[in-house]
Amino acid sequence: MASIVMVMMIVCCLQVSQTSSLSNLPTRSIPGLNKGTVHSQDEYVWMEQDCIYLEPENITAPFESWTLQHKFNYRYQKCGENCTTPPPIGIRSAVPLGGVSTGSVELRADGSFHEWTLMNLSPVGGAKIQVFDEAFFGLRTTCKPYQSPNNDNHRQHNDEKNQSFVLRTHPPPGLPGVQSLSYTGLYPAAHLTVEDTRLPITVNFTAMSTYFVNDLNSSAFPAISFIFTATNPSLTDIVEASFMFNLPFGIQSGDQGRSVIKEAATDLECFTMCNQLPTCLTWVYDESNSTCTILTSINLNGFNVSKSSGLKGTWSINQSTQLKCLTLNRPGIAPPSGNISLCSNMELDGVTFAVADDIGDLWKTFSGSGQFNFSGTNAYGVHGAISVKMTLPPGQVVKIPITMSWFYPNRDFGDKVFGSWYQHLFSSSEDVAEKMLNGESANLGEQTETVAKLHQTFLGTQDNPSSVPIWLSDVLINSLSHIRSAFWVADGRWRQFEAFDCPNVDPVHNDGERHIPYIMIFPESVKNKMIGWAKSQLSNGMIPEMLQSINCEAKSIKPVIDLPGGRVMSDVSSMFIVYLLELYKWGNEQEFASSLWPFAKKAAEWHMVSAEKYGTLYRIQNTYDNIGLNNYDVATYNSAFHLLAMKAAEELASAMGDTDFATKSRKAFQVGQMALDKYLWNNTMGYYNSYRPHINMTEPNPGAIMTDCFYSQVLAHSAGLGDLVDRRRLSSHMNAELSHNDSPYGMIVQTGRYPYPGPTQDNAVWMMGNPNWASTQLRLGLDPEKALNVAKKSLDRYRTVINDLWNVAGVSGGIGYGIGGQPLMLSHYGYYMSSWHILLALSGQEADLPSGILTFEPKIPAPFNYPVMLPGVLGTISSSVSDTNITSYTLTLMFGQLKLKHLGVGKTFFPGNVSVKAEESILWS
Ligand SMILES: *[C@@H]1O[C@H](CO)[C@@H](O)[C@H](O)[C@H]1NC(C)=O
Ligand SMILES: *[C@@H]1O[C@H](CO)[C@@H](O)[C@H](O)[C@H]1NC(C)=O
Ligand SMILES: *[C@@H]1O[C@H](CO)[C@@H](O)[C@H](O)[C@H]1NC(C)=O
Ligand SMILES: *[C@@H]1O[C@H](CO)[C@@H](O)[C@H](O)[C@H]1NC(C)=O
Ligand SMILES: *[C@@H]1O[C@H](CO)[C@@H](O)[C@H](O)[C@H]1NC(C)=O
Ligand SMILES: *[C@@H]1O[C@H](CO)[C@@H](O)[C@H](O)[C@H]1NC(C)=O
Ligand SMILES: *[C@@H]1O[C@H](CO)[C@@H](O)[C@H](O)[C@H]1NC(C)=O
Repeated sequence: MASIVMVMMIVCCLQVSQTSSLSNLPTRSIPGLNKGTVHSQDEYVWMEQDCIYLEPENITAPFESWTLQHKFNYRYQKCGENCTTPPPIGIRSAVPLGGVSTGSVELRADGSFHEWTLMNLSPVGGAKIQVFDEAFFGLRTTCKPYQSPNNDNHRQHNDEKNQSFVLRTHPPPGLPGVQSLSYTGLYPAAHLTVEDTRLPITVNFTAMSTYFVNDLNSSAFPAISFIFTATNPSLTDIVEASFMFNLPFGIQSGDQGRSVIKEAATDLECFTMCNQLPTCLTWVYDESNSTCTILTSINLNGFNVSKSSGLKGTWSINQSTQLKCLTLNRPGIAPPSGNISLCSNMELDGVTFAVADDIGDLWKTFSGSGQFNFSGTNAYGVHGAISVKMTLPPGQVVKIPITMSWFYPNRDFGDKVFGSWYQHLFSSSEDVAEKMLNGESANLGEQTETVAKLHQTFLGTQDNPSSVPIWLSDVLINSLSHIRSAFWVADGRWRQFEAFDCPNVDPVHNDGERHIPYIMIFPESVKNKMIGWAKSQLSNGMIPEMLQSINCEAKSIKPVIDLPGGRVMSDVSSMFIVYLLELYKWGNEQEFASSLWPFAKKAAEWHMVSAEKYGTLYRIQNTYDNIGLNNYDVATYNSAFHLLAMKAAEELASAMGDTDFATKSRKAFQVGQMALDKYLWNNTMGYYNSYRPHINMTEPNPGAIMTDCFYSQVLAHSAGLGDLVDRRRLSSHMNAELSHNDSPYGMIVQTGRYPYPGPTQDNAVWMMGNPNWASTQLRLGLDPEKALNVAKKSLDRYRTVINDLWNVAGVSGGIGYGIGGQPLMLSHYGYYMSSWHILLALSGQEADLPSGILTFEPKIPAPFNYPVMLPGVLGTISSSVSDTNITSYTLTLMFGQLKLKHLGVGKTFFPGNVSVKAEESILWS
């Protein structure tokens, strides 16, 4: 222990005290988190697999939805002849790094970088760049003979040993890689440990981006920090270590061109031609016929296997007393115009840079001395690299931060530039790095601390671990990476794609399924969208399905943000009312609720009119569109959503002092409940039929049963609205869902319409089904372990079987057609994020902040430790039992503040009013 204390002192003397809190990130101390180890001899292959549609690796053109139909290539690891297995976690996908809404890139388990979108690449702009193969970290070490102060001769040795490795298990051709890398991702951080017996030091590194709870501005740093931790375990040798990162931004995969065409032998020659022509802004090289196209415009990227291309740009060094940067500057006002920097604030004498066209030359320089020698400005070059050289005395640890920051302010949508919000926060990529490394607030030290606190909320501490199972916390924390598909334009509008493979913008139902972490962590993002939805309301009160309705396979995108449209849905206008109620009750947003109440009331009126004839909604679409419930007169899913809408409207109306409307809503609820029971309850089977083909039918109902037809019940319980139907019927129905629809991969979405197990349409696992079942069953009192195991079945597959935790599909394959439990439809999709309701169900959290009430009904007896979540507030509620059998409770806030009149667990209330803020605890018994 003593030596560790010394180490910390040394670290502080090396001016990296701002990164020392990084050791608090819990990635290392918690067994059971995701972990993938990749070895240099591992062989990965693409295998073609059936699907409905998913996001492909390589996108061929700008302004195309990133959709791939019917077949996709999935990464597998070879395990012998005719044998393949899913690769370790971190290979198929990894934590997307990059500040919130600023674009991202994934650092994968083999050390490679994938899915580059930080240059404003999106399904409504330039195509994502799958890989820059020559983007990599490098490490060079030199062991120096130890000079003993007391002239201890036999301890000295004279052979200075140099070694250099690319920190990749599968390095670019011709370069030396490492034996093995181990990956753990915990959003917004990723951690890699280098495992190589040849190295004289141990090395691991964390890559991290900004994520400040309830502070979108501080979260929107267009940057990633890489923090290396190196330990010299030798008792005798001094080790010199250089850490480098190469950014090969000069040449990328190609796109179509017009303008001047020349012959060129290589892409490098074409690149040089462009640099020599003042009018050239984009070059495109076609390998198939050795042509070099020189363009005077800035073109957007699209993948083409035989082409490479680039945009004109130059590298420059900028050094201040606190910071040294190499920046690639691309002129112009197009989406890819702007700058990107590699910077460090460590030991500035040891920070050097390179600009080179040939990766072999660059590597030679690095492996020769561990340092570079570029010192210029406005230089052309394919590669720009940084190296930081340090000395590690025996037994010591150093931490070295390197940042990659960017500034591409011309965010586009369908060939028009709308600008990026972050242009109001920063002036250049160097400014971003300066604020991150040397800034007074939101700097690297604060970023680390806030991320550690975020993780602690869900994982607990060593002394007081969370009662939420690790697998679930791992899934939930990493699901926060879903925010990668959000964008924030210069005029302040915060928007999010349905998914990258379907560039619709903010369908209210899809936002609803993923909304719990958004409303809790970034409530402003939700309010921002709600204003958009309210503005789009139709004169009859219906809220349109989404803010922008784009065909998932669209080949052209209208250059407009907010063009509301879509279908008539049961879970859209209803969800709008629920959102407002949640912001009111959970976030104490009284003013906001009053200002949007007229819209919510009209939305409720639309529900009432729509249900007028039959007491419930008639022939209407919903988020489970594939099963086509709109083809039947009534459906349980739709009828239950109507009940939710009426309950939420009643409570909101009461809060707004509109008692007449509250009464009207309650009546509509009662009528709706009778209609649901009358048309859909199946007394023989003890469940609600999925649908009733005709209201007036005389023939028997087919009696199909739909998984998750009571999703609205999950929302109702979370919002404190209670049961939507008779509790015994609900309970009986939930049990029936599992017994009829279960499969090895989770519950298939519907049985009983077709002979079992039915066609793909019904026989597929929608990722909301199992977690929503668990949430409702927890509320109904099922043993927590039993309930959680049902959720685990579908969720944990993506973590421990498929190993694709950062690309959870919306729908997985069902039984009997060869892709059981495999991604089937909708990449990077938010359905599985309805699992956040499980946390609310486990703690039994109920909040009514305007009345000052926050209570918990934990599903396990003391001791427990559960997360607490309210808009802008995160914390934990825990309990312990003393020797004398007294149970005491502790509310600890990590973020935000609360003023309460009634704080209680079960029947035990805190005596008196409560005022608590971040990093404070309240204890009572
Ligand atoms: C990284 O290395 C440091 C120093 O050797 C060590 O204390 C830490 O536990 C390592 N982190 C991980 C996640 O292995
Ligand atoms: C995408 O393109 C890269 C570069 O050409 C290639 O190596 C990779 O195999 C492609 N991916 C798929 C899934 O075909
Ligand atoms: C692998 O598959 C091929 C083609 O089906 C077959 O000929 C071969 O015997 C198989 N090898 C092994 C080891 O099973
Ligand atoms: C080069 O080949 C590509 C692909 O075959 C073709 O589209 C393009 O027109 C050719 N360019 C020239 C200048 O011939
Ligand atoms: C059902 O029957 C009633 C009464 O005859 C009629 O008013 C209504 O239009 C019918 N509904 C449908 C959907 O056929
Ligand atoms: C109940 O479900 C069964 C089949 O599961 C069906 O045959 C029967 O018609 C249904 N009864 C009612 C009243 O809906
Ligand atoms: C504490 O309570 C438990 C359960 O009620 C009981 O079994 C136990 O004997 C009690 N212990 C003491 C020290 O009172």
